[in-house]
Amino acid sequence: EKVVLAYSGGLDTSVILTWLKETYGVEVIAVCVNVGQEEDYDEVKKKALATGATSAYVVDVVEEFITDYVFPTLKASAVYEDDYLLGTSFARPLIAKKLVEIAEKEGAVGIAHGATGKGNDQVRFEATIKALNPHLKIIAPWRIWDLKSREDCIEYAKKHNIPIAVTKEKIYSRDQNIWHISHEGGNLEDPWNEHDESIYMMSVSPKNAPDMPEFVEIEFEKGIPVKVNGEEYNPVEMVNLLNKLAGKNGVGTIDIIENRLVGMKSRGIYETPGGTILFKAHNSLEKLTLDRDTLSFKKTVAQKYAQLVYDGLWYTPLREALSKFVDSTQECVTGKVKMKLYKGNCTAVATDSPFSLYNEEFVTFGEDDVYNQKDAEGFINLFALPLTIRAIMNEKKAKK
Ligand code: ARG
Ligand code: SIN
Repeated sequence: EKVVLAYSGGLDTSVILTWLKETYGVEVIAVCVNVGQEEDYDEVKKKALATGATSAYVVDVVEEFITDYVFPTLKASAVYEDDYLLGTSFARPLIAKKLVEIAEKEGAVGIAHGATGKGNDQVRFEATIKALNPHLKIIAPWRIWDLKSREDCIEYAKKHNIPIAVTKEKIYSRDQNIWHISHEGGNLEDPWNEHDESIYMMSVSPKNAPDMPEFVEIEFEKGIPVKVNGEEYNPVEMVNLLNKLAGKNGVGTIDIIENRLVGMKSRGIYETPGGTILFKAHNSLEKLTLDRDTLSFKKTVAQKYAQLVYDGLWYTPLREALSKFVDSTQECVTGKVKMKLYKGNCTAVATDSPFSLYNEEFVTFGEDDVYNQKDAEGFINLFALPLTIRAIMNEKKAKK
């Protein structure tokens, strides 16, 4: 029998590969899904085979990741607990989808992954697998074996001659893709410890950023970014370019305490450089083009959308229905936004759209001939009628 393993080439998944063979006598199909993390993929493949995988796949899904997962979430303006742009969260359903596809093609009986029993990732992987193929078995070694720590894994690897890179002690638990990198664990586990800026991998500290602001113009079509500084880019090139611009200006790093789905709070440092520019630019364009009711209702949708994504509920009727609502609001979110990047800050300084609802003729403090100020009197009389009636009632009561 075959089992598909979500394989990264790191210590944990190398140990899991061997452990699966030893424990269940199965053949292991190692699958490394490239969502844009920096990696020598030929090496990963070689390593999987050297560790005893029957076969090894490397699948590049970077573009699919951006167009089918990142952009829908961007259009929804979905942000978890005010700050987190969901970089890890929405990569998990895509990775799981690829694992399911390969499991079906290979006729595997199940899928194994290296997420721990304490986190969100196990939920995201497994909820997706269950949604896409309820017959596949799921193996989560961290929940069942008696290895308790990194040290136990190293010992296991030595005992079983598993090739592991002899790197210096791994300090943080990191997860990277083209959209973001997360850092958790180590000295970050004490929320009173200020994080050390030397952990950054996609950005610099604001104090090392240029002393002059840098401007970048983003053009959107129906809520999707299509041009940067007037030039068209495909989604992958665009995010890479914006990552560089934002990263060198120290834009897009957050340090947060978040609520995990499994009930505990965790602390993480997340870098989302290019994504931060895109989210802020998109929000500004919506302020120019969406009417008040749609904008405010969409905020409610955004919060629910973010929670669904965080909780791994991508493949659900509600997430899909909310995406349709969001798409309908984006018909007019076309136009351009000029962003100013300066020492960790990223602000919209100018916006323009053919669908702009901003009408200078009406709003001007100067003279106009489209708005009759007299109309406001009757409007306010009715708008404030409940206040007037209540005040009269209070007056009467006081007299009694
Ligand atoms: N806490 C973030 C989330 O739940 C990041 C998780 C990072 N995962 C990891 N395996 N290091 O989305
Ligand atoms: C893990 O437990 O594998 C990482 C953290 C998380 O999933 O939230």
